[in-house]
Amino acid sequence: MQNKFLIEAFQTPDAVSQTLLPYFSRLSKDPYVDSDVRFRSYARFAIDTEGEIMRLPHKAFMQSSDVNRVVGDVERHFAPMDDGMVTLPEFAHLLRSFTAATGLEHTGGEVDVHQIRVTCSAQDTSAPAPEGIHQDGFRFVGIFCVQRQNIAGGFTQIFTSPVEQHPHLNTVLEPNQFVIIDDQRYYHHISETLSSESGQEGVRDVFVFTA
Ligand SMILES: [Fe+2]
Repeated sequence: MQNKFLIEAFQTPDAVSQTLLPYFSRLSKDPYVDSDVRFRSYARFAIDTEGEIMRLPHKAFMQSSDVNRVVGDVERHFAPMDDGMVTLPEFAHLLRSFTAATGLEHTGGEVDVHQIRVTCSAQDTSAPAPEGIHQDGFRFVGIFCVQRQNIAGGFTQIFTSPVEQHPHLNTVLEPNQFVIIDDQRYYHHISETLSSESGQEGVRDVFVFTA
């Protein structure tokens, strides 16, 4: 099967995160977590077999409780992603990188994109992945880092089983770094974050792509 065991990591031009960063300060709070540390938006796209990408109508997002034990089987209504941002060439670059690495540019398919900001303080950790070591319930998952500001922790970890002690990959995604994995083969987790400077808020901004 094509792309079985896919783990691909690469770097985009610096302009990508610089251009997309301002759109993270306009995000709405994620209403499905108790704390005030998570902000997000959501968009859906269709790719045809020629590789053309088109935005799909907004709708509620739902994951099965088989993969998400925190908010599985809950219809989540996230704010739609900024119309202006999704038409930028830098955003298109990310979508095209994801569809190229996964082969979707030839097979066609749908891509969901989540724009997520997680903030933290020096006293309280924040959990970018409250569900722990998990799969997203898709074929492929991509994580692209836009910003890490005053962050300790927040390791991107990839496991071959949900009970494994040692990650197959344990890395810090820096701005403009993109990692794409086979979500049916691997499990992933983002470790907790803490502000690295007392009194300063820590911020981690990412796009998550699933297909
Ligand atoms: Fe995930």
